[in-house]
This record gives sequence, C-alpha cells and structure tokens, in this order.
Amino acid sequence: MKRDGNIADNNRDVVDLRGAVTLAHHFLKGRVRPGDRVVDATCGNGNDTLFLAGLVGAEGRVWAFDIQEDAISNTAALLAGHGCSSRVELAPVGHENLLGLVTEPLSAAVFNLGFLPGGDRKCITRAETTVAALEQVVSMLVPGGIVTIALYPGHDGGDEEADAVERWAAALPPHDFNVWRHRQLNRSTAAPYLLLVERRPS
Ligand SMILES: C[S@@+](CC[C@H](N)C(=O)[O-])C[C@H]1O[C@@H](n2cnc3c(N)ncnc32)[C@H](O)[C@@H]1O
Repeated sequence: MKRDGNIADNNRDVVDLRGAVTLAHHFLKGRVRPGDRVVDATCGNGNDTLFLAGLVGAEGRVWAFDIQEDAISNTAALLAGHGCSSRVELAPVGHENLLGLVTEPLSAAVFNLGFLPGGDRKCITRAETTVAALEQVVSMLVPGGIVTIALYPGHDGGDEEADAVERWAAALPPHDFNVWRHRQLNRSTAAPYLLLVERRPS
C-alpha cells in the first residue's frame, strides 16, 4: 500500500516505546536540559549514564553510582569512548550514600533496578537501600525534576523490591509530587515497568 508522504516523514524518527528503559529515556529527553545536574543511581554497563551525559552536555554534571567494580569500569570505558568522561563523576558506592556525595539540586535521577546484564545475577538492587536512595533523591529534586524507576518484578527478589518501591511512591504527598505507574497491559505481570515521580513545578 502506498503511504502518505507526510505520515511516512513524521514516523521516521519515532522510537518504539516497548520497554521501561526506552519509556524512561522518552521522559528524560523532555525534561533534562544542557547544564543540568542529574544522577544515575545504578550505572551498570553505562548506557543510562551515557544517555544522561548527552542530555546535560559539556556544562552539565552526572553522578553515577554502582557497587560493582565491573559496572564502574564498563561505564568509564563507554564514557571515554564517547569523549564525555569529564562531565560524569563515577561513585563506586551504594546509591544509599548519595546525600554525602551529590552536592547540587537535581533535575533528574534514573533508577534502573535489578542485576547487571551480562554480570552476576545474584548482585541485585534491594528494597531497603533502593528506598533509602529514593528518599534522598527526592529531597534534592528541583521543582519539575523527575525520577524514573524501572522495576523488574520477574527475578527473585524483584517483586519484593517493586512492592516496597510502590508503597514508598504511593505515600508521597500529592501536593508536592506527581506519581505515575506505566505498565503494559498486554504483557505478563512479571514484565518490567516504569514508575515516574515528578516534584510538582511550583
Ligand atoms: C539493571 S543494572 C543497571 C543498568 C544500567 N543502568 C545500564 O544502563 O547498563 C542494575 C545495577 O544496579 C547495581 N546495584 C545494585 N545495588 C546497588 C546499590 N545499592 N547502589 C548502586 N548500584 C547498585 C548493580 O550492580 C547493577 O549494575
């Protein structure tokens, strides 16, 4: 079938929003500006860190956390390969220590939870430390700032963590925060999904 030229043109750059991480990037793209300060709470292989480094640009700053040496070195290598190491501070500690290290108000924070793809599947994010870090991050958000949280209920421990994060998010005061849950209705209940927390613009 011949397609209308305009429709074809409009669709050329459309991203397939099939995954929680893609959807998180979609929101971050709309909110993070050059020069902003942001956090990647779980840098893993560095994909989210690199994405954030691109959004904040040379004048911006990214703090990236992970507890695994491999994650920190993979992220460092990826950033170096793209020439943006200098705008990222890599913190080889748990994100629950964020308050002591991040010193400026944040326009966004990314939590991509679970285990390191291609790494040790037993080293997972845990409800207690994740919620502690989220609590710290929201206290540093500027008005209009967002936190994206990709949750993976499909692995052992992932469902408990997702429940704890949802309980924490549901208790945020609606006067100060908008809290959204994005879940694909045509996928299994074990599929990854996304929570979005926005400090309401004043
Ligand atoms: C799904 S992976 C992150 C993927 C990553 N954002 C990327 O783009 O490749 C989850 C990561 O969380 C890390 N992690 C687990 N507990 C943590 C903690 N308390 N603080 C920071 N990172 C943690 C794991 O080591 C793992 O690398």
